[in-house]
Amino acid sequence: MKVLLINGSPRLKGNTALALEEVKKILEVEGVDVKVLNVGHLPIRGCLACGHCHKTGQCAIPDVVNETRQDFIEADAIIVGSPVYFAMANGTVLSYLQRMFYSTKADWNHKVGAGIAVARRAGTVSTFDQLNKFFSIKGMNIATSTYWNDIFGGAPGEASQDEEGLQTMRNLAHHVVFLMKAIAKQKAETPLANEGGAHTNFIR
Ligand SMILES: Cc1cc2nc3c(=O)[nH]c(=O)nc-3n(C[C@H](O)[C@H](O)[C@H](O)COP(=O)(O)O)c2cc1C
Repeated sequence: MKVLLINGSPRLKGNTALALEEVKKILEVEGVDVKVLNVGHLPIRGCLACGHCHKTGQCAIPDVVNETRQDFIEADAIIVGSPVYFAMANGTVLSYLQRMFYSTKADWNHKVGAGIAVARRAGTVSTFDQLNKFFSIKGMNIATSTYWNDIFGGAPGEASQDEEGLQTMRNLAHHVVFLMKAIAKQKAETPLANEGGAHTNFIR
């Protein structure tokens, strides 16, 4: 089983990294293959809406989105950590995810997804909701925890003092592993029935 951990923070040793590290520790104890991708420090621009990906399966912008697409295709679970900026996920991680989820063809239905919001003080639940939008439009299975997946800290390292936040991260990792195992078992027995094809624009 493969889990992809995305760090959306430009601070490579900040609180988002700390939260993801707490998740990673449990995943590794559970024998899961973990890969961490740091994207928040990269100059990632937003989608151009050019349609290039419809024809080629690749984004027209030659950057980390194309370079890391295979990691998304292969992952059984995708966990995205974002710092909260103005009560939202930060712009870089949103640009990365919007382009990745739009341009990638994958078996999303059998993947697990989880978002983690990291803030000094406020805006975690709106950020958490934003991150979940990526998973829920793709039929993914959202893993939850013993609280909404958030942790608090301002200066790098401060989140280590949020004991409940850390516990939420560890419990999230347990839930992700449980869900991945359950999905693998069920997929082997009865694949998911899913209709496709309807694409209705609301024009009269
Ligand atoms: C541009 C910017 C906007 C921010 N907006 C918020 C906010 O709305 N709410 C909040 O609690 N913290 C806010 N913060 C603080 C960060 O969320 C906080 O420092 C967090 O720990 C950063 O995670 P990191 O260490 O992984 O980068 C903001 C920080 C920056 C740089």
